[in-house]
Amino acid sequence: MDTVATADFHHVYEPGFDTSRPPLLLLHGTGGDEHDLLGLGQTVAPGASLLSPRGQVLEGAMPRFFRRLAEGVFDEDDLRRRTHDLADFVAHARQRYGIAAPVAVGFSNGANIAASLLLLRPEVLVGAALLRAMSPFAKPPQADLAEKRVLILSGAADPIIPAQDAQRLAKTLTGNGASVDHRVLPAGHGLSQADIGLLKGWLLGA
Ligand code: MLT
Repeated sequence: MDTVATADFHHVYEPGFDTSRPPLLLLHGTGGDEHDLLGLGQTVAPGASLLSPRGQVLEGAMPRFFRRLAEGVFDEDDLRRRTHDLADFVAHARQRYGIAAPVAVGFSNGANIAASLLLLRPEVLVGAALLRAMSPFAKPPQADLAEKRVLILSGAADPIIPAQDAQRLAKTLTGNGASVDHRVLPAGHGLSQADIGLLKGWLLGA
């Protein structure tokens, strides 16, 4: 599948054949790209359209969706700006491809910007699956998340995401009205078969 650029995001769009499924917005982790999560998307939501952008920030040679000052310490001004850029990209891509509002499936850095999208531009997503996510803001903004379903899958042995950080994110999203299912799996930062099974089941209700 070729990569194209829309509103400055290199991305892949794969049209689906099952219109009962919402499209997936696939958001890769640090060092990934727009091709990384296509296989996961096809596995967990067969027939869904897939929209997969590449993060615009480079850390060395590694694409990311926003800058960080250190591991787990985010440049929140950059995060805000990049979140709006990504939200505008999704709106543009929806028009271009004629697709409904997507469910985000984000891994690690991609999960963190998906959480930021929920908080800053909730109209962009119908829901989000946040795989190995942490709270992106020290003081999270208020948002109306009443209609949003969120799945958070954390790894009990994740060396990058402290358990209390993922819990704080779940609490923030729940406090803003989202319907949050937070599971802690016997896994590290990488995804396991259990992640894939849970994600697939959760997406059937999306
Ligand atoms: C982030 O920077 O978003 C998180 O620390 C996870 C990562 O991408 O390493």
